[in-house]
Amino acid sequence: MGREIIQLVPATPKVRVTGAIVSTRSPHIGRDAGEVAGQPPLGVRLTTNLKQALEISDVVIDFSRADATLALLTACREARKPVLIGTTGMSSDFERHFAQAARDIPLLVAPNVTLGATVLMELVRTVARVVPHDFDIEITDTHSRDMQVAPSGTAVTLGRVAAEIRGQNIDEVAVTRDRSGRRKEGAIGFACLRAHDIFSRHDVLFAGEGEQIILGHHSSRPSIFARGALLGACWLARQPAGRYRMWDVYQEGMT
Ligand SMILES: NC(=O)c1ccc[n+]([C@@H]2O[C@H](COP(=O)([O-])OP(=O)(O)OC[C@H]3O[C@@H](n4cnc5c(N)ncnc54)[C@H](OP(=O)(O)O)[C@@H]3O)[C@@H](O)[C@H]2O)c1
Repeated sequence: MGREIIQLVPATPKVRVTGAIVSTRSPHIGRDAGEVAGQPPLGVRLTTNLKQALEISDVVIDFSRADATLALLTACREARKPVLIGTTGMSSDFERHFAQAARDIPLLVAPNVTLGATVLMELVRTVARVVPHDFDIEITDTHSRDMQVAPSGTAVTLGRVAAEIRGQNIDEVAVTRDRSGRRKEGAIGFACLRAHDIFSRHDVLFAGEGEQIILGHHSSRPSIFARGALLGACWLARQPAGRYRMWDVYQEGMT
């Protein structure tokens, strides 16, 4: 995602890369971030020094790993920098840290930054609110053969959205469809397909007696994620401290 974002920045008005952070394992530390992303040099060296990288930034975008996000969040809070967190896979314990940070800085936690998935989440919220609770919910995520995580962060978020509407805790009702046995009442099922170069696809099935509602979002290229991240970051840089979601960003863009 870092590479995708750097590639899109030249075509994005009023945006410039002022810092770029990598892990201590990175073979690219000290190299120019533009060159590593296959672009002309940016004059920005890849660094592990969070404080230095944040110094002259107006807003920070995080696509890293769950175990790196907390340190970044702390550094952003100390430096009073808005941050968009696109990293997925955080445990529910992170909610406490997010709530604390959002008192001091604008914070946008976005398990999926695309327009389509953001709209899908709102549709799932609406359908979950309207249909009786005996409708079964099954979520399928399809990704390329390289995808390491299952289910995807977006699939889990879709399940969480539906569970919240039903007054359920997703950790208690989530069932992965990798074993046999009768469906449990109130369960939210997750199934994952991994095949060739399919980029990303999420489908949510609400099944009632004699009828089904199927909602889905299919995306075919990583640049739509970079576009969403840059849109969200530019919007976030103008907000006061608080907790935001991509829906806030796109809603404003649509009105
Ligand atoms: N919200 C969304 O719409 C969306 C879209 C795509 C991906 N994601 C999520 O974003 C995350 C990253 O995805 P990706 O596809 O970009 O993965 P990736 O290609 O593996 O890139 C992860 C990057 O994070 C860096 N990193 C890892 N640990 C770090 C640390 N401790 N400090 C600083 N940097 C660190 C890695 O640097 P090194 O190479 O040095 O380790 C690498 O550059 C995943 O959680 C993924 O699920 C979310």
